[in-house]
Amino acid sequence: MSKADVIVGLQWGDEGKGRIVDLYARDYDVVARYGGGDNAGHTIVVGERELALRIVPSGVMHRHVELFVGGGTVVNLQTLVEELDALAALGMDLTRLKISDRAHIVFPYHVQRDKAAEVARFDAIGTTGRGIGPAYVDRVARTGIRFADLLRTRELADKIRTNAGDGESADLLKTTIGHAERLKAHVVDGVAWLQERLTQGKRVLLEGAQGTLLDVGYGTYPFVTSSHTIAGGACTGLGIGPSAIGRVIGVLKAYSTRVGAGPFPSELHDHRAEQLRQQGGEYGTVTGRPRRCGWLDAVAARYAVTLNGLSSAVITKLDVLTGFERIGIVTGYRRGRKPAGFADVGEDGLEVEIEELPGWSEPIRGYRRIADLPKAARDYVERIGEILGVPIEIVSVGRERTQLAR
Ligand code: IMP
Repeated sequence: MSKADVIVGLQWGDEGKGRIVDLYARDYDVVARYGGGDNAGHTIVVGERELALRIVPSGVMHRHVELFVGGGTVVNLQTLVEELDALAALGMDLTRLKISDRAHIVFPYHVQRDKAAEVARFDAIGTTGRGIGPAYVDRVARTGIRFADLLRTRELADKIRTNAGDGESADLLKTTIGHAERLKAHVVDGVAWLQERLTQGKRVLLEGAQGTLLDVGYGTYPFVTSSHTIAGGACTGLGIGPSAIGRVIGVLKAYSTRVGAGPFPSELHDHRAEQLRQQGGEYGTVTGRPRRCGWLDAVAARYAVTLNGLSSAVITKLDVLTGFERIGIVTGYRRGRKPAGFADVGEDGLEVEIEELPGWSEPIRGYRRIADLPKAARDYVERIGEILGVPIEIVSVGRERTQLAR
């Protein structure tokens, strides 16, 4: 029996997990996603080629890797079919992609509800507008439609009629049956499928979507996504027990970003935010929105270590900080004179304490060893290691697949 390792984002998503999963996937037999849907957008860069993935796990570049979409996900069939077409056009074999019969389906009516809810809200969340929240609402309300239902046309028709209303249901049923024809060969008993591989001793990597601080239970509620993004979500999202989990590897961007509304204690509002945005290409993969940018937040990072039971970390996009004279880290929160913690985020009057470290100006993309980095960059990485209290396995120093220092 093997144990499955988890890769999670430690901030508000967009830490560059896709690329890190791609890197680790080489040493695994299976890469499985456990939550979220096409609100996620993982970009993988291989040479000149850029691949935007929404649903398909980031291990896709490795031909030997089996890909799995777990029962904790919500999947838009149209997005999935388009993604499979795009990958097939690149010559990829996707018979190795399996989808849990327990995964839920995102329908156009979920997308409509998501958009309408945003307009109706006093404080809009800034969702990706992909119907993710409403699909999870249906799941919990026990009115959702699952991949298992795609295989049973009569029940599917009844359920679609109930959910979509008579007006829309005929067209929707027709397109859904078309999608079902196309996708049914990928649908498996998700619990048995994964269990079999763990029992066979296969090496399994579990890929988180979004980031820790967007977790529906423990993130900056209500400005969160609707799934459990933390490592524990891998158990419920795949139907495995906590004892099946091995290592938990966290991905931390060298600074912070957030897309959508909600509290962001270390946010910058001056030219430095713009510099981070430009140097880091901080625009949403799914929505194209400019991301809000700020310094690394040590309070939030330590909170993320706790929530995930982290074993080790990977730091991404260190090169983006090149050229900053001084680099800040938020090391504490206060409300008035009183020290505050992550639970106080979103409360009025939260102030931050910032520690500044010297920056560096020399390009660092060519470095392959952490120990060889310019002193200021090395010191910054060391400081992050101290904050997290776990070993740092890798630091990414550029966009290309090989631009990594160990
Ligand atoms: P939803 O997941 O579309 O409901 O959006 C809820 C919140 O999560 C919004 O602030 C989104 O911007 C954010 N979000 C959802 N998916 C991602 C992601 O993959 N990266 C970053 N933010 C995300």
